[in-house]
Amino acid sequence: MDKILVLDFGGQYDQLIARRVREQNVYAEIRDWRGFQIEEIKKKGYKGVIFTGGPDSVYGENAPMTVRDILYLDVPVLGICYGAQLIAWLEEGRVESAKDAGEYGRTQLRAEESVLFEDVPETSVCWMSHSDFISRLPASYRKTAHTPHCPIAAFENAERKIYGVQFHPEVMHTEYGTKILSNFVFKVCHCLADWNTGDFITRFLEEYPKTHKGKKVLLGLSGGVDSSVAAALLHEAIGRDLVCVFVDHGLLRKNEGDQVEEVFGKQFGMNLIRVNAKDRFLEALKGAREPEKKRKIIGEQFIRVFEEEARRLGKIDILAQGTIYPDVVESGKSGSAVIKSHHNVGGLPEKMDFEEISEPLKDLFKDEVREVGLKLGLPENLVFRQPFPGPGLAVRIMGEITEEKIRILQEADAIFREGMARAGNLRPARQYLGGVTETLSVGGTGDARFYGDVLALRSVPTDDFMTAEWTRIPYEVLERAAVRIVNEVGPISRVVYDITSKPPGTVEWE
Ligand code: XMP
Repeated sequence: MDKILVLDFGGQYDQLIARRVREQNVYAEIRDWRGFQIEEIKKKGYKGVIFTGGPDSVYGENAPMTVRDILYLDVPVLGICYGAQLIAWLEEGRVESAKDAGEYGRTQLRAEESVLFEDVPETSVCWMSHSDFISRLPASYRKTAHTPHCPIAAFENAERKIYGVQFHPEVMHTEYGTKILSNFVFKVCHCLADWNTGDFITRFLEEYPKTHKGKKVLLGLSGGVDSSVAAALLHEAIGRDLVCVFVDHGLLRKNEGDQVEEVFGKQFGMNLIRVNAKDRFLEALKGAREPEKKRKIIGEQFIRVFEEEARRLGKIDILAQGTIYPDVVESGKSGSAVIKSHHNVGGLPEKMDFEEISEPLKDLFKDEVREVGLKLGLPENLVFRQPFPGPGLAVRIMGEITEEKIRILQEADAIFREGMARAGNLRPARQYLGGVTETLSVGGTGDARFYGDVLALRSVPTDDFMTAEWTRIPYEVLERAAVRIVNEVGPISRVVYDITSKPPGTVEWE
């Protein structure tokens, strides 16, 4: 399989670069430049290298001189933003600070003759985000594009197959960005388009049973996308040698626990153990009002239940996890261990004795994980499920958790989600949820007055969950949800909609 190396200098779009390359059906791998051994390029047979953007200046103290040798390996290199400046600087060109005149946002790119710009019009829109700029090219390099404020927006040494672009081709706002990356991958690196999730599944199913014959594998299934797809894949590979333990803490959304059992236990015929531990969790949560305290209690209980089940199962050789590629990249960056704590919940037992950890999805991006899930026959509503926090509804019920509040929230949230799904909002990356506030207010039905809970709805459109706007839901959708919730769920006196962005609000209520 042909591979592109994305050498990470800390830019904010690094994962996007790798995803854009993979969208061309070419496998791309991200590696941090620190600690990267240059010999690996030849050893692993990378067909090309992309230097990413980054927050540093080439004149900063941490300038990565060590990567200079990459330019002499006779392997094509494309530098993006800081990566382009780095090439220019390493090759003895000049990079200067634009001081106050940095360039941010959309701008007009004027492209000249270059293999990178084949099938790209002479003028198009590109996305810039830089304060340093290349003021003089190294000898034997030539300029191939400029913008009104950037005299050298792209350059190349075609003979040595080294290219640089000051703008960000990976960002959607760059009109022909995908074309530019594809020109590099196919016309410069001559990669074969031989990466796709179908082949990934075939390879996994061939290899995993060979290397793990007769081993017992345990997977903590949360019902979330990653652990569900990992379960489906491992089940396909080793059948009943996989045991899935699904700890139902009673704080899932309406019918979610039953759906997990239906899909994995009945349809897939998996070796599934569902532990109904609602009473135990509620007992432990009694009196807990603080969000962090609730999280801690749930995390601890989860580990305890999981441990008890694992012990009951006897000898288990391998613990499987639903780690996906962004988790690996992130944990590599922060220098922490790559092993992910149980997806969605607060950690796994440390003392458990396994020969090995299997992470079958560790090379896949989220959209690829979803594709694998669909190909393995998981239902769409599970594969495109919105993120759900490990502590579940506990962080959507303000104050103390009671069975009645769980019931109210499950019902109201189901009505809201049904309305949103009908309005066509199921697939996009966003989260929508209900929450029970700690406020009671007066309502009236006929002649009777009652004192009922105030239920709040929230919806955020976001890709990264770090920042979020609030969704402008059509009034009719909100109205229908409010009417149904008050009429069908009771005793709810008010339904309110949260219009706080993040920051300062968070996505969850607690
Ligand atoms: P916040 O509320 O921090 O949420 O803006 C950002 C994203 O993280 C999820 N979230 C959690 N996920 N355990 C989890 O597994 C948690 O305790 C937790 N708290 C928040 C939230 O659903 C959103 O996607």
